[in-house]
Amino acid sequence: MYPPSRLKDAADRIRERRSVRAADILEPGPSETEINEMLEIASRVPDHGKLGPWRFLIFDGDSRQEFGELLRNQFAKTNPDSSEAILEREYSRFMRAPTIIGVISKVDPASRIPEWEQVLSSGAVCQNLLVGASLMGFAAQWLTEWYAYDEIIAKALGLTENERVSGFIYIGSAGEKPAERGRPDLQSRISKWCPA
Ligand SMILES: Cc1cc2nc3c(=O)[nH]c(=O)nc-3n(C[C@H](O)[C@H](O)[C@H](O)COP(=O)(O)O)c2cc1C
Repeated sequence: MYPPSRLKDAADRIRERRSVRAADILEPGPSETEINEMLEIASRVPDHGKLGPWRFLIFDGDSRQEFGELLRNQFAKTNPDSSEAILEREYSRFMRAPTIIGVISKVDPASRIPEWEQVLSSGAVCQNLLVGASLMGFAAQWLTEWYAYDEIIAKALGLTENERVSGFIYIGSAGEKPAERGRPDLQSRISKWCPA
C-alpha cells in the first residue's frame, strides 16, 4: 500500500507546529549533514514541468556578520537619520540564529508553466523547510523583512532578473515551547462547491 499507514508523530507535529521567533532561536544549529537532509526535504515539492524554480543560499558562521555589514550600510543609506542602536540592530539580524537559509524563487519566463505556479513551488519549498526542520527537532521561522525587497541587497545576494527572495528561514534550537497563536477560523474558510 502506498503511502503506508499514517505516521502519527509527524502528523501531530505538523498539526501543532509553531514558528519560534528569530530573536528566541538559540545555538546549536543544524550540522552540515543535517542541513543537507533539510534541503532534501525542502526540495521534495510539487514542481510542474520539473523546472526546479528555486535555489538555496546558506548563511552560517562568519558569513552572517559579513551580511550584517551589508544590511547596516544599506539601512544607513536609506534611513540616514538612524541612531547607532538601530544600525546595530540591522547589523545583528543574521546573528539571531545559527543558520539562515535563503530560499530564492527562480522563474523561467520562457517556460510554458505559468509564473504563478513556479512561484508557488518556491513557497512550498519554504514550508517544507520549516516542517523538515521541525520534524528534525529544530526551531525555525520564515521571515522576509525589508532586505528581501531591497534592490541593492538583491544584487549583493547575486539575484538575477527573474529571481526573488521567497524567504529567509532562520533555523536553530529553542528554549521554551512558544505559546499558541490565534489561528484563522478554519470552518468559515471551508465550503463545498455546488453548481449555481
Ligand atoms: C512569506 C512570509 C514572510 C514573512 N515575513 C515575516 C516578517 O518579515 N516578519 C515577521 O514577523 N513575520 C513574518 N512572517 C510570519 C512568520 O513566519 C510566522 O508565520 C509567524 O511568526 C507565525 O508563525 P506560525 O504560525 O508558523 O507559528 C512571514 C510569513 C510568510 C509566509
